[in-house]
Amino acid sequence: MNIKNILVAVLAVVLSTGCNGQNKNNAETRCGTSLQNEQTSNPGNMSKSIVIFFSHAGDNYSVGNIEVGNTKIVADYISEITGADQFEIVTHKYDGMAYTPLIELAKEEARKGELPPYEGTAPDLSGYDTVFIGGPVWWGTYPQVMFTLFKDINLDGKTVIPFTTHEGSGLASCASDVRKAFPKAKVTGEFSIYGHEVRSGKAKVERWLKTSCQ
Ligand SMILES: Cc1cc2nc3c(=O)[nH]c(=O)nc-3n(C[C@H](O)[C@H](O)[C@H](O)COP(=O)(O)O)c2cc1C
Repeated sequence: MNIKNILVAVLAVVLSTGCNGQNKNNAETRCGTSLQNEQTSNPGNMSKSIVIFFSHAGDNYSVGNIEVGNTKIVADYISEITGADQFEIVTHKYDGMAYTPLIELAKEEARKGELPPYEGTAPDLSGYDTVFIGGPVWWGTYPQVMFTLFKDINLDGKTVIPFTTHEGSGLASCASDVRKAFPKAKVTGEFSIYGHEVRSGKAKVERWLKTSCQ
């Protein structure tokens, strides 16, 4: 066998065993963990994902007084479907506020670029390859408290997937603001869903994950 034939034979073996075998047996996805019905046989090799989100329960537009915020419902779908861990950005600043004073306060915070503190400490993200970032659209971008956290985390080299819940603005400037905050991350696969749709919207989230995470 001459050198050319040997190279062709080696390439054929690599393609027929290594690559195909990995795709079939290890349903590793960009989002780190296997989607339902695609259980991996090799969890040790899988990348890890986390959902970082903020969500405001209480009085809100279109859905009334809700016990669980719209974005939290989407975050929970993501974790249920992909196995991603979660870090919830919590502040008690808006607890019990009616919708109208809340939108006024949020407008002022956005105008002034305030950075309200969140509870606890920033998560250690060193073990994660993929980071979902989600929140409601407040005045055209994420709530300011999310930007407080952004200053405390490093997403260099990670895959970052932004999502929003909203009542008409879609992604607004959330994905581009994430790109600005994390210029060395790979920001991709962004997704938005109406807040009033999330309770019946699991299939929509699942479809998004199927395209974002393969
Ligand atoms: C302070 C405030 C500002 C908002 N601004 C917008 C907006 O600019 N565009 C939009 O589409 N929806 C806006 N909304 C609606 C929320 O984005 C929507 O209800 C979202 O699903 C709430 O998610 P949550 O329950 O996880 O907080 C706003 C809601 C609040 C409370």
